[in-house]
Amino acid sequence: MYQLKGKTAIVTGSGRKGGIGEAIIMLLAQEGCNVVVTDIGAPKGDNFSKEHIGISSDMSDIVDAAKLLGVKAIAVVCDVRFEDQVSQLVQHTVRTMGGLDIMVNNAGVGYIMEPFTEFKSESWDAVLDVNLKGAFLCSKHAAIQMKDNGGGSIINIASQAAKSGFPFAAAYTASKHGMVGLTRSNAVELGTFGIRVNAVCPNHITTGLGHWQNKFFSEKLGQDYDTYLQAIKDKNPLGRTGMVEDIAKAVAFLASDQAAYITGEAMNVSGGEEYH
Ligand SMILES: NC(=O)c1ccc[n+]([C@@H]2O[C@H](COP(=O)([O-])OP(=O)(O)OC[C@H]3O[C@@H](n4cnc5c(N)ncnc54)[C@H](O)[C@@H]3O)[C@@H](O)[C@H]2O)c1
Repeated sequence: MYQLKGKTAIVTGSGRKGGIGEAIIMLLAQEGCNVVVTDIGAPKGDNFSKEHIGISSDMSDIVDAAKLLGVKAIAVVCDVRFEDQVSQLVQHTVRTMGGLDIMVNNAGVGYIMEPFTEFKSESWDAVLDVNLKGAFLCSKHAAIQMKDNGGGSIINIASQAAKSGFPFAAAYTASKHGMVGLTRSNAVELGTFGIRVNAVCPNHITTGLGHWQNKFFSEKLGQDYDTYLQAIKDKNPLGRTGMVEDIAKAVAFLASDQAAYITGEAMNVSGGEEYH
């Protein structure tokens, strides 16, 4: 449907089962695209406990599932906060897969929430370093590669928090607004090389990250988990929360030639919850 046969995509933060990254990998693979599953792989520091990250065994399982669809798939451990690791990720991809056509910046930290007047400087850095600096580094090294090879597509997984504010989430919200700025700046600068840059802005999806946020906000509001989740669904014009597949379809479309004249967009995939 999206004609991605023979292309190669890197999806950061795609090593966690049930996550948006895994769904993107599987849909791209289904469309014939060779895929690189990359994630942090093992807990690194207090902010990256096993509860919140994509681990190596999950990465291998996702690679195996993609290979069953008949494409090339590899797993690469990469912490997107570090430029040397990102550069190696891109170089290894080009060496092993023969090129790089699609970079999806999906890695994100959404479980560090604090009241603003108590927001720790380290917490701010932890969120911004992954969500925004990580997207910058991955976009930079993807663009270095794509610019000499006729172009490509960079897609940033932002959020509804890239367009609206959320309590206790100053760092997350600022990082996601920043991703849209990065998208727009890169779209106007890199278009001349045939590189399109877009963002996708999901509303709530109950992934591992989304589940943590549901627990956090339901406790803050003094509601039980199910009541809180139902209230989110009720306020959505389409009466449900997002699904990982909704985001994967938007990514496959933006990555494909069907979106050949679309760049600099920050596309809401939110069931009508966000519309600007
Ligand atoms: N779930 C939602 O409701 C929702 C809504 C809007 C946007 N998003 C965004 O979608 C993206 C995917 O989130 P998800 O809900 O699938 O959660 P998830 O926790 O399944 O995925 C996030 C992934 O990022 C990885 N990651 C974290 N730090 C990293 C680092 N330093 N280097 C490399 N990888 C790192 C994690 O290991 C994890 O696999 C995130 O950017 C998130 O902000 C999610």
